[in-house]
Amino acid sequence: MQSLIGKHIVLGLTGGIACYKAAELCRALIKEGATVQVVMTEGAEQFITPVTMQALSTRTVYTSQWDAREENNMPHINLSREADAILIAPASADFMAKLLHGRADDLLSLMCLARPREDSVQGGAKPVPLLIAPAMNREMWSHPATQRNLQQLATDGAHLLGVGSGFQACGETGDGRMLESAELLEEVIAFFQPKLLAGKHVVVTAGPTYEAIDPVRGITNLSSGKMGFAIARAAREAGAEVTLIAGPVHVPTPRGVTRIDVKSAQNMLVAGTESAQNAHIFIACAAVADWRPANAAEQKIKKDGSGKTPELAFVENPDILATIAKSGRAKKGELYCVGFAAESEDLEANAKAKRIRKGVPLLVGNIGPSTFGQDDNAFLLVDEKGAKQIERAPKLQLARLLVAEIAARIQL
Ligand code: CTP
Repeated sequence: MQSLIGKHIVLGLTGGIACYKAAELCRALIKEGATVQVVMTEGAEQFITPVTMQALSTRTVYTSQWDAREENNMPHINLSREADAILIAPASADFMAKLLHGRADDLLSLMCLARPREDSVQGGAKPVPLLIAPAMNREMWSHPATQRNLQQLATDGAHLLGVGSGFQACGETGDGRMLESAELLEEVIAFFQPKLLAGKHVVVTAGPTYEAIDPVRGITNLSSGKMGFAIARAAREAGAEVTLIAGPVHVPTPRGVTRIDVKSAQNMLVAGTESAQNAHIFIACAAVADWRPANAAEQKIKKDGSGKTPELAFVENPDILATIAKSGRAKKGELYCVGFAAESEDLEANAKAKRIRKGVPLLVGNIGPSTFGQDDNAFLLVDEKGAKQIERAPKLQLARLLVAEIAARIQL
């Protein structure tokens, strides 16, 4: 699945050791379907060669405002008008200071100054957003001058992508590293998604729960958490503030999402009820264990050599979705609840009955055994009007679609 098909990105490199990450970023953008035109400053050429970037982007790199390839000799105009976005990665402290003052003594800064902005665009032309991925030593990053510049750049309309923290090339440790190429890719993809849930707070439950039998054993299920994580990512891409309540899974947290790790259904209920208190949308994607051992043993249950097996008694777990869907805020229409139904047969009838039983306006039916652990899935969306089939597709694509379906339904 490619999320950047049809997008043309001007990737600007300025002088910094993080230029090595820009090579991988260039490749990653292309793999997602974008076309990439690289522009480098003289400083960037000290760290990585245009040959490398040309090979990766399959386009000759621009380094000079006097590039004779352009018939009108205006690469700063031509390159910026073609772009769907300009991404400066890495953006050095010096380059940001330059942008801030509107200086334009090299092709890249000139092009940034000349780009059509939302407040200036003329006729049929489209504005060209400027995305900035800073990269510098921690002292340079925390310096009041840099922080002031960042604020002003944001006020001037630039979209700042943040920095990472950790070991730096200079040997120091702290904030200021450029984000990794995979993180930047996720940010760029998110940037282009429609902001259907801007200003909304979304809570998502994901993954299985784990119900302890004793301190070393428990009962769980095959849910991988991928669907719930994809929904959390899609909601964040759509501009929402997202809290993801995850059972025990090994899936990386989507960028910009607050993750709360839980184990049992009871833990998930506590985290869910608390988070839903100031949320607008609650999406229950987790495969919650229906029962838990009635009395989890405090110590490991041992074999006694007689061949006797332990007798396990179970009690029913709380129904997280039904509890939250019955809350006052949901009843007043302040919280929109969405459930899932993991079935193994008779999907439509089961999903319709489950929607009523859970008391939710929208329920997503799917066949458990054919989705658990997979990268794709198929949905049956059930609401008060009936059922709608959504064909098999990658989970992120389905998650974006579900976000759009929810956005169209909420009137909060
Ligand atoms: N769910 C929940 N708490 C539970 C059980 C389920 O919040 N204790 C939520 C799931 O996250 C999902 C929906 O309820 O959104 C339906 O879950 P599912 O496992 O399909 O159904 P059950 O309610 O467990 O019913 P059954 O096992 O009879 O199919």
